[in-house]
Amino acid sequence: MDIRQDRLIDELQVFMESDLERFKSLGERIIKDIRRQHKIMEASDKRQRKEYDQLQEKLLEVERLNREIEDTQKEVVFTMGAIGESRSKETGNHVKRVAEYSKILALAAGMSEREADLLKQASPMHDIGKVAIPDDILNKPGKLDESELDVMKQHTKLGYDMLKHSKRPLLKAAATVAYEHHERYDGNGYPRGLKGEEIHIYGRITAIADVFDALGSDRVYKKAWDDERIFELFKNEKGKQFDPHLVDLFFENINELLKVREEYRDLFG
Ligand SMILES: [Fe+2]
Ligand SMILES: [Fe+2]
Repeated sequence: MDIRQDRLIDELQVFMESDLERFKSLGERIIKDIRRQHKIMEASDKRQRKEYDQLQEKLLEVERLNREIEDTQKEVVFTMGAIGESRSKETGNHVKRVAEYSKILALAAGMSEREADLLKQASPMHDIGKVAIPDDILNKPGKLDESELDVMKQHTKLGYDMLKHSKRPLLKAAATVAYEHHERYDGNGYPRGLKGEEIHIYGRITAIADVFDALGSDRVYKKAWDDERIFELFKNEKGKQFDPHLVDLFFENINELLKVREEYRDLFG
């Protein structure tokens, strides 16, 4: 080798060594970078998990509040119904039984579980308008005369007016029930004299539930009827006072209805 070659090799070696150094430090930098990235990812993973957990907690809280609101609404509606009934000297169990009968008939009529439940909660409000009827008429032991009867009949419209402004499905259903539970299928009911299916199904069902229960209970002005007499009335009123199809469903489900009556019977009176 001549001198020139030696120098070339030397230079090449120096070059390679420095290149190796550069390469090594590059490698270290890359490894450091990867480690940093990894740490960042871990941290953001933790942050994301924390955010997710917090969101989950908030969702549960919202759900709990929703349930709370729903329960409160149900209780308010039920209490209002009980107030209406207590004004007219009904027992607290009357509204419970009417609620259960209404649901049985609603399901039999093909309503969804959800809608049947809505009606179950709304039907106890049928007489809420009685809170606005004067005591002397409401509590009169004997028969009402014609003008008193006219005042009494206003409890339907009064109840409707109390509830009609609500946008809540439950209160809207209650408004319908209050308004239409004294309509008759043949058009001779009140307050509007609606006929057949012009009467909302909620009104037609509650009418049956309410009368069935009223006849089977003692009231200030009468003793409870026995079942045979009640059934006779429903047969006679099929297509007159009551929706004929619903009367059929009433008889088809009579055992279930009687079971409810037994379960929620009045302990006194
Ligand atoms: Fe009524
Ligand atoms: Fe009633």
